[in-house]
Amino acid sequence: MIFIDACYRRKTPRPPIWFMRQAGRYLPEFRAIRAEHGFLDVCFTPELCVEVTMQPIRRFDMDAAIIFADILLPFIPMGLELTFEKGEGPVIHNPIRSMEDVERLRIPDFENDMAYLGQALEKVRAQLDPQKALIGFAGAPFTLACYAIAGRLGKGTEIIRHFMFSKPDVFDALIAKFTEMLIPYFEYQVRHGANALQLFDTWGGTLSAFDFQRLMLPDLKRIMRETKDLGVPRIYFAKAASHLRWFLASIGSEVVGLDWTMPIAHSRRMLGDQVAVQGNLDPAVLYADHDYIRIRTRAMIEANGDKPGHIANLGHGIYKETPVENVAAFVEAAKAYRY
Ligand code: CP3
Repeated sequence: MIFIDACYRRKTPRPPIWFMRQAGRYLPEFRAIRAEHGFLDVCFTPELCVEVTMQPIRRFDMDAAIIFADILLPFIPMGLELTFEKGEGPVIHNPIRSMEDVERLRIPDFENDMAYLGQALEKVRAQLDPQKALIGFAGAPFTLACYAIAGRLGKGTEIIRHFMFSKPDVFDALIAKFTEMLIPYFEYQVRHGANALQLFDTWGGTLSAFDFQRLMLPDLKRIMRETKDLGVPRIYFAKAASHLRWFLASIGSEVVGLDWTMPIAHSRRMLGDQVAVQGNLDPAVLYADHDYIRIRTRAMIEANGDKPGHIANLGHGIYKETPVENVAAFVEAAKAYRY
């Protein structure tokens, strides 16, 4: 698989390509399914989950599928009441306030509590071209804590950093609980067919480098250490995290995902040469005309140079108003490239 080769920094004829949020609302066939089924129903019904996971692959033929799910799904068996409200996104109805709240959270028995996900992974793996990888994923402890503490997360993480400094013991216990949950969750996904794993740390970049290093690095390292024997590459992605780049190679993931703000060569210099990189086209570039999208896709690949270990991707999830034909121009440009 070209995707797995790139994760392990083996030479490939071109960079593999997939992109974050590739199954989703920019696709008319996804909107058609969502018109009839709630978001969680799609996640809970393996047939629907398989269908929306495969939709972008059928259309664009990228090198990896990402299982359709959400980073917040494990909250449900943990005991956090999760709903998705129209126009607002996720809401936790019993957010974490105290040590007792953290102690009450249970570590799911994934085979039973999230059986739908294992079934969907197996069905996708059975349908997918053997040359394409299936990516499983989860949220990183800090990003999960953001939703668990805020209940409704607005635009920033002030409320979380307020909690982190005013109730440090509760915060640490919550991070430890999520770490303890994530290791068997990743094991579960690999057991059912995931060929690679991505840890999404959407909000990690809102921490100072000092606090990230102090509060997050030990748990991130533990997750990577304890999932290494699964034998699949792990990708760590944090948004707007160039100030954290110096530490990210030490986490121990095979791949580091890059947002679009910093040139790939600079990130490479900060990361060293023991990790592969993924990214980093600004998703807004997909609003440009096709020629310009092709130019910028090639420029992204050339910014990495011919160093092995680059996965073409966006610097964050695709925007939902993105025209579908523009997505095709992006994927085709990456697939036509030769080193
Ligand atoms: O194609 C894929 O990438 C797989 C599916 C996927 C979803 N969520 C489906 C989804 C993935 C990888 C995620 C990850 C996720 N979920 C993250 C981390 C990635 C990132 O974007 O930084 C986060 C922070 C969440 C939590 C979440 N889920 C939010 C904040 C929202 C609402 C805002 C939004 O993007 O719509 C969701 C809902 C959600 N998760 C949708 C989808 C397709 C939209 C729901 C709908 O169909 O109406």
